[in-house]
Amino acid sequence: MNAREECVLQIQNLQVSVGSAAASTAVVRGLSYQLSKGKVLAVVGESGCGKTIHALSVLRILPPGAHITGGQILYHGKDILTLPAEELRQLRGQKIAMIFQDPMTSLNPIRTIGKQLTETILAHKKCSKLRAQATAIRLLKKVGIADARRRMKEYPFQFSGGQRQRIMIAMALCLKPDILIADEPTTALDVTIQAQILKLIKQLQTQSNMAAVFITHNLALVAEVADEVLVLYGGYCMEQAAAAELFKHPLHPYTQGLLASLVHLSGPKPTHLCAIEGYPPAPGMPKEGCPFAPRCPKATDKCHAQLPPLFTEGAHAVRCWLREESK
Ligand SMILES: Nc1ncnc2c1ncn2[C@@H]1O[C@H](COP(=O)(O)OP(=O)(O)OP(=O)(O)O)[C@@H](O)[C@H]1O
Ligand SMILES: [Mg+2]
Repeated sequence: MNAREECVLQIQNLQVSVGSAAASTAVVRGLSYQLSKGKVLAVVGESGCGKTIHALSVLRILPPGAHITGGQILYHGKDILTLPAEELRQLRGQKIAMIFQDPMTSLNPIRTIGKQLTETILAHKKCSKLRAQATAIRLLKKVGIADARRRMKEYPFQFSGGQRQRIMIAMALCLKPDILIADEPTTALDVTIQAQILKLIKQLQTQSNMAAVFITHNLALVAEVADEVLVLYGGYCMEQAAAAELFKHPLHPYTQGLLASLVHLSGPKPTHLCAIEGYPPAPGMPKEGCPFAPRCPKATDKCHAQLPPLFTEGAHAVRCWLREESK
């Protein structure tokens, strides 16, 4: 981040655990990043690495059993973790909006889309019902729902998966948030629709100069939309860099593995896919050493014994002992 950029969200050493006090397991382990106005940060990693839990922490909507055990989450310099309930309510939706993976879990199946959108607007803004309805129609048009006025009277099941995700985007944007957190908003959709939805989010984000955190397990998806990429593994940040730099010079063997496993649609047909051998670790495992060491083709004894710190080279950070040796 350069000095002139306005920092809207800063996470410092965030620690989140799941389970009871007697048997708790760390699932986010010392995560830190800064997000500037108008920028898109992609948080990438395989299933179970803590992507969703970290996002839910920002809005303080963690599921039962999960709790923040340390760190700070600063929104414009104010710690979200110590905000009183009323300020927190205003923050959610109004300042920071979130789009979830499956729109059906966020939309009420027995209320029309028009009612749900209008109610969301009225819950946060002092305006007439007519005005809220007009805003809802305008937003539906903006996210590409044709015949928006008529479709306001329809129920979620009357829309396709892609359309429902568009409605969720409209819902998230209706209060003009500063920050949009999109948690795998396209995984339930087919590839063409995924690209459309992503393009839509990027377009709306650019138009309103919003900051966005884009969560995905698919590095290929973020190549065109992200300014910065953070690679999570076993709850740790393994690598973080400007997107162009990360795609050009991935330093961590895990990031290299993720990139090698991508199918390039425009390139020659691969003879085989280089999937990363093995599985991500169970929460809190391994107890010592680098969490990626058991799957890492370059791991040494030190990697199995000691957790590497984040080594930084300019704006490029990487958690790997190999970087120490290469210096
Ligand atoms: N309510 C919960 N209770 C106990 N453990 C949980 C709970 N929610 C998540 N976890 C654990 O926390 C870890 C991180 O989960 P999280 O949902 O953040 O993963 P993710 O990176 O979003 O994965 P995915 O790509 O599958 O969505 C996982 O190991 C998961 O099993
Ligand atoms: Mg998730």
